[in-house]
Amino acid sequence: MIDHNNLEEYRDPINYDLEFGGEIEKYHFYLEVANLNPGEVLELACGTGLTTIHLAKSGIVITGVDISSEMLEHARVKAQGLPVDFIEADARTFNSEKQFSMIYLTGNAFQAFLSDEDQIALLETVYKHLEPNGIFVFETRNPTGTDLSDEGETIWGEFIDKDGMKVKVSGMQSYDEKKHIMHWVTFRDWGSKRTTSRIACRFTDNDTLKRLLTNQGFSIECQYSDWDKTLYTSLSPSIISVCRKKV
Ligand SMILES: C[S@@+](CC[C@H](N)C(=O)[O-])C[C@H]1O[C@@H](n2cnc3c(N)ncnc32)[C@H](O)[C@@H]1O
Repeated sequence: MIDHNNLEEYRDPINYDLEFGGEIEKYHFYLEVANLNPGEVLELACGTGLTTIHLAKSGIVITGVDISSEMLEHARVKAQGLPVDFIEADARTFNSEKQFSMIYLTGNAFQAFLSDEDQIALLETVYKHLEPNGIFVFETRNPTGTDLSDEGETIWGEFIDKDGMKVKVSGMQSYDEKKHIMHWVTFRDWGSKRTTSRIACRFTDNDTLKRLLTNQGFSIECQYSDWDKTLYTSLSPSIISVCRKKV
């Protein structure tokens, strides 16, 4: 079962950064796209601002939108003095007077939109807030390049938490083939305690993705499999799509 808001993974923003931060190649990729498309930038589902802040530090004027007040609270602390504005809102209904030259989502946040209706609502937000010819960029895990089979508890990795303690991370997965939704359960062993959190992520195959983007008014300029701009193939683990608003 999916918890009503699917936000269990985002309750500990400081440790979120320690576990998931440091994707330098990805930050450079988004910065390069922003520099090629001058103007203001919007990141939807920005979380703690890992990428938002990297762009802001390079002088990009940027707005980050996220539904989680906890994630945004930590983002705001980190962003003091930078040209960034964080807004708490649901990306499906976010409404601003402003338009942006670039809008992006990262951290596979596109997969948080679990139904056709949610994906369409998200893309309507993007379309509405993009300047004519503006650029829309996001990545999503590729179902044809991912092992979607059910798995019992498996070791996933480890990280050092805010108290300097090593946290061992393991997890299990089960895939709902009808809804294209992966249910991941993550176990974190902190030594003195073990925590469990659940997340559901939707997988969209590339043909469906291309159809969706085209129907929602975007043309696809390029698709990559990695931040080094290796071109997408059906076995790529990721689909990184660079799209433009059609006018
Ligand atoms: C995997 S995190 C990615 C965060 C950030 N982009 C990063 O790369 O670290 C997904 C984020 O999506 C946010 N989110 C989920 N559903 C959302 C929605 N409907 N509107 C806005 N943000 C949402 C969560 O709060 C979380 O911060």
